[in-house]
Amino acid sequence: MARKTIIAGNWKMNLLPAQAEELTFGLKEQVESKPNLEVVVFPQAPLIPLVVDWIMDSAILVGAQNSSDAISGAFTGETSPQLLKILGCQYCLSGHSERRQIFGESDLVVAKKVKTLLEFGITPVVCVGETLEERESNRYEEIIKKQVMAVFDELENDSWGRLVFAYEPVWAIGTGKTATPEQADEIHKHIRNIIAEKAGEIISNATSILYGGSVKPGNAAEILAKNDIDGLLIGGASLKSDDFSKIISAFN
Ligand code: PGA
Repeated sequence: MARKTIIAGNWKMNLLPAQAEELTFGLKEQVESKPNLEVVVFPQAPLIPLVVDWIMDSAILVGAQNSSDAISGAFTGETSPQLLKILGCQYCLSGHSERRQIFGESDLVVAKKVKTLLEFGITPVVCVGETLEERESNRYEEIIKKQVMAVFDELENDSWGRLVFAYEPVWAIGTGKTATPEQADEIHKHIRNIIAEKAGEIISNATSILYGGSVKPGNAAEILAKNDIDGLLIGGASLKSDDFSKIISAFN
C-alpha cells in the first residue's frame, strides 16, 4: 500500500497575523493538490482559527504544535485537543524535541498526549530523535526505540495504525546540519522495524515517517527520494512561501 507523503511546516513561535496571512496566501497560490500528498502548516495556537479561514478552498491542512493530555479542567496555559478539533486541526505535533528539552516532556507525557489526540480524531505526528551526545555515544537506536515504544505501550492496539512519526535528530534542528539521506533512511528503517515488531508488517508498511532537521529547497529532493522517508517536517524554511513551495515541488 502506498504511504501518504506529508510535507509539514512547523512555524514554531513565529509570525504575527499579517505575516502569517501573507505566507498562507503565498502558499495557497503555489500549492496544488496532488494525489497522495498532504501539505500541513502548524501555526501558534492563537493563529489557528485565522489560518483555517485563510486556507479554505485550498489543498493545505492545519495542525497544532502542542496539546494537553487532558480534555478540560484546571490546566492553565494548556490547549485541549477537543478545542483543536473544533477549530479545524487535523494534525498535532507530539513530543517535538523543543517540548521535550525546554519544557521537560517525558516519553510518558508525550504518549498520553498522543492518546488524547486520537480520542478526538486528530492525527499525532510523533517526533522522535537523538541528541548529539546520544548519537556520538552510539545510543541513538536505543533512545529512539524507547521514544517510539512509549507511545505504542500507552495505546490500545486498534490505534496503532493511526500514527505518523517524524524522525528529527536534535543536532540537525535549526543548526544547518542535516542528517545525510543515508543516515536518515537508516533510522527510518529502524523505526519501521520497531513498528513491525510491535504492530505487525501491515501497520508498519502503512505508517508515514517524516524527516525533519534543516531541510531546505536544496536538499529536500534527495531526502524524499529515500524509500523509507515519507515526507518532511520543516521549521525555518517553512516560513518563506517560496522555499516551502520549492520543497513541496520536490515531491512528484
Ligand atoms: P528546522 O526545524 O527545519 O528549522 O531545522 C525542524 C523542526 O524543528 O521541526
